[in-house]
Amino acid sequence: MKFLLALTLLSGASAFVQQHVGGAPPTFGGGLTQLHARQPIMAGNWKMNPATEDDALELASDLVGRLGEETCAVSDFEGCTEVVVFPPYPFISKVKDIAAEAGVTIGAQTIVYQDKGAFTGGVAASMVKSIGCEYILCGHSERRTVFKEDDDDIDREVLKVLDAGMKPILCIGETQEEFDLDISTEVCIMQLSKDLFGVTKEQMKDVVIAYEPVWAIGTGLVCGSKEANAMHVSIRDCLRNLYDDEVAENTRIQYGGSVTPDSVDDLMAQPDIDGCLVGGASLSAEKFARIANFEKS
Ligand code: PGA
Repeated sequence: MKFLLALTLLSGASAFVQQHVGGAPPTFGGGLTQLHARQPIMAGNWKMNPATEDDALELASDLVGRLGEETCAVSDFEGCTEVVVFPPYPFISKVKDIAAEAGVTIGAQTIVYQDKGAFTGGVAASMVKSIGCEYILCGHSERRTVFKEDDDDIDREVLKVLDAGMKPILCIGETQEEFDLDISTEVCIMQLSKDLFGVTKEQMKDVVIAYEPVWAIGTGLVCGSKEANAMHVSIRDCLRNLYDDEVAENTRIQYGGSVTPDSVDDLMAQPDIDGCLVGGASLSAEKFARIANFEKS
């Protein structure tokens, strides 16, 4: 069963890779031989929280008050961590003004890939760009499962975000069922290959990947740091096959799924984990500030 599923997924992935780069089907395996300086990136995904604007502004102010000097915007990386928060749409503008005081960047939790028109409820990339968003989450598992977005939709979103001059955080990860079938790597490779279809090497400078095992999201089950790192190595290998060494080694890959102040230091001590995408714990300024100020080993 695992063999058949893996074969199906990998042959699908190979076809996409060939369309990507026009070459022979890739091999997957191996690991990083060299460590590169990648700026850590900690992101807080507030999801559909908190309930009111007042609560959102209080959370943002509390966070700004707690973040130390080790956090900064991406441009002047010198050992500091980039911090991004993703509030719900109605709160973005005001949260941005507060967050800017601490060099915190703002993102939106999703966009639709169409530019404008009759898409009731839709929000376009240009709209969130015009209010100061720099990052957009693409392919979050809740968008995939609850809102039925498929890899084709996610690929179009990634391309639209890049086209608009913003940066996608592309979320990938296996479900519990796929984990049990031991096809996690194949699933992640397939998602990466499809969701990055048409993205150029040049554009990859602005792409962040988040490995989020679905079984770890909101469940309190954190993937072991060594296991998470092993998946990050496989993701880099896939990027190496889709692009080249430079992209594989420069792309930042976050881990997401029940990250807390208790688990962050171990995760961040792993060589291929460059940051975390945090849901539940980002709703506590105290916890998220501790995560952002993780212990540097
Ligand atoms: P969690 O969510 O930290 O609550 O598990 C992570 C996410 O959904 O990105």
